[in-house]
Amino acid sequence: MKDGAMKDSAMKDGATQLDLRPGQSTELLKELHILTREGRINQDSRRKLKQVLHLYQFIEKLLAQLPQAPEGPTLADHGAGKSYLGFILYDLYFKDLGAGRIYGIETRAELVERSQALAARLGFERMSFLNVSAADASGLDTLPQRFDVVTALHACDTATDDAIAFGLRKQAQHMVLVPCCQAEVAACLRRDKALSLSRTPLAELWRHPLHTRELGSQLTNVLRCLYLEARGYQVTVTELVGWEHSLKNELILATHTGHRKRAASDRLRSLLAEFGLQGLEPLRYPDL
Ligand SMILES: C[S@@+](CC[C@H](N)C(=O)[O-])C[C@H]1O[C@@H](n2cnc3c(N)ncnc32)[C@H](O)[C@@H]1O
Repeated sequence: MKDGAMKDSAMKDGATQLDLRPGQSTELLKELHILTREGRINQDSRRKLKQVLHLYQFIEKLLAQLPQAPEGPTLADHGAGKSYLGFILYDLYFKDLGAGRIYGIETRAELVERSQALAARLGFERMSFLNVSAADASGLDTLPQRFDVVTALHACDTATDDAIAFGLRKQAQHMVLVPCCQAEVAACLRRDKALSLSRTPLAELWRHPLHTRELGSQLTNVLRCLYLEARGYQVTVTELVGWEHSLKNELILATHTGHRKRAASDRLRSLLAEFGLQGLEPLRYPDL
């Protein structure tokens, strides 16, 4: 390929390269810095957009299955960050629906202010952003009593657990969780390491620090799934996108059925006991 042609292809319109959905706002993508002002792709943001659009496909189906109500669906996004997910959801689903509301929950005040300003600029009037932790959000009087959907995309550490607690309290029909790094369980495993190593060969699974961290993450997500099943949710675990796009790639989809699985709570308790994590039960897995 000649130099000029190569340059032309590299300069190809970003929106075309991103394979956007019909009606998707390129203005929004510029505001989110996924596209540059000239309409080219910001490569760093491309990966994020791929994840978010992929997640959107799951959430869109869940939203469409909700019973229709004049007030529309309510969705809370925990650990919203720059609210890529919330804005894309609004742009592609809530905007044309003309009803429903998205609440972004985020502890960093500057991100909340930025999202508020962007929503005002775009006229996305049924978006709210709250500068509050996921743990404190469920106690806010200003939030609805019930939510249809709870999302948490890479919400740090225990913010995913807090999002689950929020979803349970708000009787969410669906929870869509892509957990991030996890430190709480790994810290417990680390604390009792010497004792456990002498007691059971399974403790070899967390002898090396890297394994402690990885096992801590894995175990945390297993416990989360069991907890959701014990609390009446049907759970599916799958990959969000290819592993080449993100290491934090586990997608947990939970849908309320009302069928609380006794076996799941028994298993959860047994696992906690096996790994010496019983201390976490009252905090993370109450009302089993
Ligand atoms: C890795 S970022 C992900 C942001 C966004 N969901 C995304 O995928 O682009 C995690 C965000 O969670 C926020 N966060 C961390 N702990 C939180 C908590 N306990 N409650 C609410 N937000 C939290 C952080 O400030 C950060 O913006």
